[in-house]
Amino acid sequence: MKTIGVLTSGGDSPGMNTALRSIVRTCAHYKIKCVGIVRGYSGLIEDNTKVLNTRSVRGIINEGGTFLYSARCDEFRQATGREKAYKTLRNNNIDGLIVIGGDGSFTGATKLEDEFNFPVIGIPGTIDNDIYGTSHTLGYDTALNTVMDAIDKIRDSAISHDRLFFVEVMGKDAGYIALRSGIAIGAQEILIPEVNTKIKDLTNSLKNSKKSGKTSSIIVVAEGYKPEKNVYQIADEIQEKLPNYQVRVSVLGHIQRGGRPSCFDRVLGTQLGVRAVESLIDGNYGKMVGINNGKITLTELSKAIKGKTKINKDLLRISQIMNT
Ligand code: F6P
Repeated sequence: MKTIGVLTSGGDSPGMNTALRSIVRTCAHYKIKCVGIVRGYSGLIEDNTKVLNTRSVRGIINEGGTFLYSARCDEFRQATGREKAYKTLRNNNIDGLIVIGGDGSFTGATKLEDEFNFPVIGIPGTIDNDIYGTSHTLGYDTALNTVMDAIDKIRDSAISHDRLFFVEVMGKDAGYIALRSGIAIGAQEILIPEVNTKIKDLTNSLKNSKKSGKTSSIIVVAEGYKPEKNVYQIADEIQEKLPNYQVRVSVLGHIQRGGRPSCFDRVLGTQLGVRAVESLIDGNYGKMVGINNGKITLTELSKAIKGKTKINKDLLRISQIMNT
């Protein structure tokens, strides 16, 4: 392993820069050349690369986003795109590639491995926490703290005006962000794609909380929770059914992906970066590095993509107890 390439792909997440710094410095430690690929798989197709040294990653441990830029690349889904990408890897004498991203990015990495027998390692970088084989993806903890801070502010307004707020959070098809942040902010209800909460149950829960003297409430809604309606339609329906409530909707959006990585994500990004480089050196390819019970672990990339981590039902139960 003389030269290692690295790219960030898909939605950016806080901690990607920290992981890049770690990869570059670990490469320097082992006297390996490190090549950064700009804008994910698009950069790989266009041969947009730059050699990285320890100074290239100075002062980024605490920066959100990714200094290598990121993209969602359609051309890489085509065989012709992947041929071009492979050429770039060869042109730059890259012996192994580290891909930081989510399941879509990992699918791309497995294609390089399957079609060209190219050594790849994945680092789970996404706020969604929807990757099997790691208890935490890089950026999830920071996003949770961002959501918690934002909803704490919304709560001030909810209390001052006796209002009911529906707050939509990200998470793609998964409810991890909603469930954990919902408990942290004391949500009245948490609506996630993994549980089929009916509007009728929600209405009853709100009626009961009104009866018990509660004057304001927050419902956290995962963006993937769409039984048949989106968050605005759900809010309209509740407003119609419960005219005594003043209902408002807040969609947090991309603020959840930004900001300085938390302490947890900085340490995690640093640990995962070191292990990713060392796994390539050890010839342990086709894996994702992750964290489980405080230990850095390796999972087959194919399993990381296909596997499903079950939602923690006990957190849901706890949330219900808190609502009473
Ligand atoms: O995967 C991260 C994520 O932020 C999801 O939570 C969200 O559904 C999606 O990306 C949004 O993607 P984009 O920024 O491309 O609209």
